[in-house]
Amino acid sequence: MRRDDSVSPRSVLEIRGLNLDFGTPRGRVHALRNVSFDLPAGQVVGIVGESGSGKSTLAYTVMGLLPDNAEVTAGSILFEGKDLLKMRAPARRSLLGDRLSMIFQDPMTALNPVRTIGSHMIDIQHHEQVSRGEKRARALEMLHRVGIPDPESRVGAYPHHFSGGMRQRVCIAMALLVKPALLVADEPTTALDATLEVQIIHLLKQLQKEIGCSILFVSHHLGAVAELCDRVVIMYAGEVVEEGSVRDIFHNPAHPYTRALLECDPGRIKKSTRTLPSIPGEVPSLLGTKLGCIFRSRCPQAFDRCVQENPVEHRIGLDQVARCHLLDEKRLVSA
Ligand SMILES: Nc1ncnc2c1ncn2[C@@H]1O[C@H](COP(=O)(O)OP(=O)(O)O)[C@@H](O)[C@H]1O
Ligand SMILES: [Mg+2]
Repeated sequence: MRRDDSVSPRSVLEIRGLNLDFGTPRGRVHALRNVSFDLPAGQVVGIVGESGSGKSTLAYTVMGLLPDNAEVTAGSILFEGKDLLKMRAPARRSLLGDRLSMIFQDPMTALNPVRTIGSHMIDIQHHEQVSRGEKRARALEMLHRVGIPDPESRVGAYPHHFSGGMRQRVCIAMALLVKPALLVADEPTTALDATLEVQIIHLLKQLQKEIGCSILFVSHHLGAVAELCDRVVIMYAGEVVEEGSVRDIFHNPAHPYTRALLECDPGRIKKSTRTLPSIPGEVPSLLGTKLGCIFRSRCPQAFDRCVQENPVEHRIGLDQVARCHLLDEKRLVSA
């Protein structure tokens, strides 16, 4: 839809027109609206937006780990050419921990407190046709690679024996031990301090290059995104408002929301304040259908059209798209 296949690398993930609702006592929450983007093979794509913009919902939809009150009402998620949403449950489950793996914000989501790190790391290799001894050796090697000191003596320890940062390293080791085609990481460094965040980002980058996998990296921290990602998808209130290469998004943002995010946090990883960027106003309620631009109530440049019409995608340059009426007006003026 958006890129010419003859010039772009093959996509490992192609999301098209994805709509998702949560059923709640107050009505249906439209958490994802018409979400479309590609993740080129071997690249890292960052999903950025304030809290409540639908980033985790998107990550969990890709993984097939949604709660019971979630319903995908439209769209497709092509993973290696197959629509995950049309796949039968057992086939889909068998992808997890094989072609697809995930790192969570809270490492304990993936760790069982009553099992040793070693047993987690051996079990995660259940798809591999090698001996238990070989699996153990690979586990030790990977623990060493992610910076766990003295893995031989740590492999018998339980998750609570490790600090938060070390637990996240163990989760990265587990996620990458299966050599996935796609790693989904939902705010993997948000619970860590700034120094640890830098270390973990560098580690992810290095391992991604080695393994050659693609990463969908969810974050509200622009510095981490600038450091790790090739491309960025900006989400607001369940919609993709802008998408492009890291360079274009950081140097030539086209959507007023992207500009507002960058003004709050220019994206320096060593910045001491790593709190959520604060743009005046709040993310609107996701209940009910919306006419017009979803960002208009907070947009300093909103005008009549933003109330009446939903903005469509406008292409900027070769490889950047944004949904904003201002881009159309500019085009009309310059035509
Ligand atoms: N299980 C759920 N039931 C109802 N609403 C939900 C559920 N999970 C998330 N939401 C709502 O969906 C929206 C997007 O949430 P989320 O994907 O967690 O955003 P983010 O990860 O960007 O902070 C929010 O309005 C949130 O309240
Ligand atoms: Mg989230």
